[in-house]
Amino acid sequence: MSTDDTRRWLDPDVPAGERVAALLAAMTLEEKVGQLVQMANPDVERHADLLTAGAVGSAIVASGAYAGNVRDAGTQASHANALQRAALASRLGIPLLVARDVVHGHRTVFPIPLGQAASFDPDLVRACARVTAREARADGVRWTFAPMVDVALDPRWGRVAEGYGQDAWLTSLLGAAAVEGFQGGPDGAGLAEEESLAACAKHYVGYGMAQGGRDYAEVDLGPVTLQNRHLRPFRAAVDAGVATVMSAFHTVDRVPMTAHEPLLRDVLRGDLGFAGPVVSDWDAVGEIVRHGLAMDLTGAATLALRAGVDVDMVTGAYATHAADLVRSGAVDEALLDDAVRRVLALKVRLGLFERPFADEGRAARVHLAPEHRALARRAAASAVVLLRNDGVLPLRPVGRVHVTGPFATATEELLGTWTLDGRGEDVVTIADALRERLAADGVEVTVDDGRFPDASHLAAREADLVIACVGEHPLRTGEANSVASLELPPGQAEVLEGLARVSRTLVVVVVTGRPLALERLAHLGSALVLAFHPGTEGGHGIVDVLTGDVPPSGRLPASMPWVTGQVPMPHDHLPSGRPLDPAGPLGRYRDHSDAPQYPFGFGLGYSAVEYGPVRLSAERLGAGEVVRASVILRNAGEHPAVETAQLYVQAHLASISRPVSELVGVQKVALAPGEEREVTFDVDHALLAHRDARGRLRHEGGPFTVRIAPFAGVGGGAGPSAQLDVDPLPDAADAADDGDDQT
Ligand code: BGC
Repeated sequence: MSTDDTRRWLDPDVPAGERVAALLAAMTLEEKVGQLVQMANPDVERHADLLTAGAVGSAIVASGAYAGNVRDAGTQASHANALQRAALASRLGIPLLVARDVVHGHRTVFPIPLGQAASFDPDLVRACARVTAREARADGVRWTFAPMVDVALDPRWGRVAEGYGQDAWLTSLLGAAAVEGFQGGPDGAGLAEEESLAACAKHYVGYGMAQGGRDYAEVDLGPVTLQNRHLRPFRAAVDAGVATVMSAFHTVDRVPMTAHEPLLRDVLRGDLGFAGPVVSDWDAVGEIVRHGLAMDLTGAATLALRAGVDVDMVTGAYATHAADLVRSGAVDEALLDDAVRRVLALKVRLGLFERPFADEGRAARVHLAPEHRALARRAAASAVVLLRNDGVLPLRPVGRVHVTGPFATATEELLGTWTLDGRGEDVVTIADALRERLAADGVEVTVDDGRFPDASHLAAREADLVIACVGEHPLRTGEANSVASLELPPGQAEVLEGLARVSRTLVVVVVTGRPLALERLAHLGSALVLAFHPGTEGGHGIVDVLTGDVPPSGRLPASMPWVTGQVPMPHDHLPSGRPLDPAGPLGRYRDHSDAPQYPFGFGLGYSAVEYGPVRLSAERLGAGEVVRASVILRNAGEHPAVETAQLYVQAHLASISRPVSELVGVQKVALAPGEEREVTFDVDHALLAHRDARGRLRHEGGPFTVRIAPFAGVGGGAGPSAQLDVDPLPDAADAADDGDDQT
């Protein structure tokens, strides 16, 4: 590598900061602007001039604004390398950064993030992200726009599929794990490895609150809720070393996030200490005009640059106007330099200067590797939540099983939203997995895809057991795919009711990208199983759970309402000033209960697990101390169990009203039949703290309830609990920000 003093940025032995400074000093204004330009699908033939002029800093390989819902031709190492050759031929030889939305798998597809969240297992999420990065890197991708860490309270919003559910603590835990998986470890230390991608925490911030669940709609949010719920996962991602952050499409309190200087500069860069590049969402710089804050792209570029958006994803507003804005003094060159520095620093950290090219033979070696499929199968099983079971499951050998419904033979549809590179032909269907597994027991498996419900009913009559596989097509989920009704797609409940009338035994499997309102299925059939779009190994994963080869361990990362009109249903809502009389009506609605059909954290196993009383090692938590909270779990059934013990706290007295139930810990415990085990959580002030409107951590004291429970209660209720008196930490409001401890 050159050690030529004039091209010091090419020398890996020169400290990163100096490389960046040397490069910046050598750049023209136009070259600087080029680094802030992200172009969609550059083509070597048509765009070689732009690339060699240094006019493009990064490329997004995508099929369009609704990329998550439409497959595209994909990218290959040879394509990325050709682009790279053109970029390296530029005057300063700055490599191109190739980006793609690699969200929950690449060629091997894992469950949608909401399904991964059902595992409540950061190690699994980290492992899925690692394999995703390995496979995408082999196709020349270096930057992914994931994880999405928007806390989504409203399941009508299609993008609930892309995140980790409704709980800020769980989203923080799993989002940080995904960042580590993509980037090859904490703090971005593994970014330059051959199997790593730069991650991007998106969509900053509050997007999960889109009004009415309508995608892209406005958000109104108070500062305390913003701090404690929506910013929290971004803090965790920044603490995990996330390389980039994406500013969102929506407005917060009437200001588009892509022009939101206070939230981007003061909060993200200032309070959260984020030092990497901020990229706009797709065309979001241009959309500032539609939001009515600028008349044209010149105005939009001015606002976005001033607000702290470093990279303009595809609008072209920076490409066309940024240099003039600097020349006219409308945008300070120092501000532009900062943005460029951040992009260049990322390229250095990624090792792009040293290893700009992808190994063109690698994809064939790593895509769909057996260990990737094995992980996908384990992950798919973890995304299955057993909601109801009268004892029919796990399946026992019978003469004939009939499998019906659109998801019985579905392939691509099991992959879920934001699957750009997965292929239907790689997918194991539920019907095939059942055949494969039950043949050994001599069970005859018949199959139909439910296209003719009358024919399905005929086949059902002949079978000993019917498994009906219904649910949402992935095109009803994800970006721009909100729904007004959370019920099953039209006609499915009716078909199921017909099946229930003619089947000896009916098991219903609902495959979905969001929590649904399944009131009509409350008593229908013998068992109800929910599977979030499970990915390439979906059939195997679901059947592993149905047969009991894998104990059901999925838990709901969001509450499931009875009916759509109940949403949103946060388990961590505030106490009401007028609590319900326990002996009175079930809630405030005249026509329904206030409670969800299935609460957050809920999921059954094949054995009942009993919880003993919560024991605390002390009744008082003093400053600097830790109290241990423990409970004895007992597998009271005849099947192996994997229990997800959840630690909830409630602060009864604080400077703000605090939720009736806050999740602050999770442990997964395997229990053999009859086995007892003690589960212990360390409770310290970090777990009990909250943030004030300015984002300062408050370790306030007072009485707390500590619960260890199998799921979130209704009104703070389920599971055994104990009372803990907590001393405040001295100088709480001014305490140095020690971040969120997530484990
Ligand atoms: C989505 C982002 C995505 C981007 C690039 C946008 O429409 O909101 O989540 O990363 O497109 O494809």
